[in-house]
Amino acid sequence: MIARTIPALRRAMDSLRAKKATTALVPTMGALHDGHVSLVRLAKRRARRVIVSIFVNPTQFAPTEDFGSYPRTWKADVARLANEDVDLIWNPDVKTMYPDGFATKILTEGPAIAGLEDRFRPHFFAGVATVVGKLFTQVRPDFAIFGEKDFQQLRVVTRMAVDLDLGVKVIGSRTVRERDGLAMSSRNVYLSPDQRRAAPELYRAMQASVQALRAGEEIAAAMAEGAALVTGAGFALDYFELRHAETLAPVTSVKDGPMRILVAARIGATRLIDNIAVRA
Ligand code: PAJ
Repeated sequence: MIARTIPALRRAMDSLRAKKATTALVPTMGALHDGHVSLVRLAKRRARRVIVSIFVNPTQFAPTEDFGSYPRTWKADVARLANEDVDLIWNPDVKTMYPDGFATKILTEGPAIAGLEDRFRPHFFAGVATVVGKLFTQVRPDFAIFGEKDFQQLRVVTRMAVDLDLGVKVIGSRTVRERDGLAMSSRNVYLSPDQRRAAPELYRAMQASVQALRAGEEIAAAMAEGAALVTGAGFALDYFELRHAETLAPVTSVKDGPMRILVAARIGATRLIDNIAVRA
């Protein structure tokens, strides 16, 4: 089933919720890959009914970014979701999401959005929080599944759902990688063969930093080591940082609790992000 208007979505959700069936939403921008599919599978384990939204959200792209060229693979996406037995695809158009005169925004603040993506894409989390807030109130699912791949986004959305009493439990799902370690991403199709060969270095660099921390190196030195591997592979680095895994606050001691290394870097015109857990 596919819904494209709010009344069609309401009718579909009323029937999916019959007999109090639980529901889980997987928000996406389409161009689906195995990472997205893993979220759908987790959703199916959590809830009776699964809804996937496909909407390339213009408000989370800056005018200079890739909204126009973002990959759109509608037919293949629908076929993949049919294979996974998804109950409903929610595919609004831009006018349905942002009708003429639209003038409301959800802004987030606090340690989870200080720095990292917010520093390099200052428009991004307002766009994400606003669209995800709308998706949650439109669909009203019991659960929503987000990938750890976009770790800061997962934290921001979790906080927003709690703060606004949206009644949606946000669940994180682990990152799916290619065999060589590159985190799957809809944007990987932008990579030239040479760039694609260099791309797994992001993951290797984070692993090298984890090893350095384990070997007792200072945090700054361990991060510098990873950062050097990233730039050595031909990337322009945006950030390579160690943060607290829950609050995303900067970490000054490896005894500060569960930690995460987060990286963003550009190769050619493509920007990639990734992160891994650091266990003490
Ligand atoms: P999109 O990039 O399509 O990602 C949709 C979901 O898939 C996100 O929760 C993302 O973290 C997850 N995901 C992407 N790659 C993954 C991978 N390799 N392994 C596991 N999960 C992965 O993120 C967005 O869209 C948008 O910002 C959205 C939340 C839909 C709001 O517009």
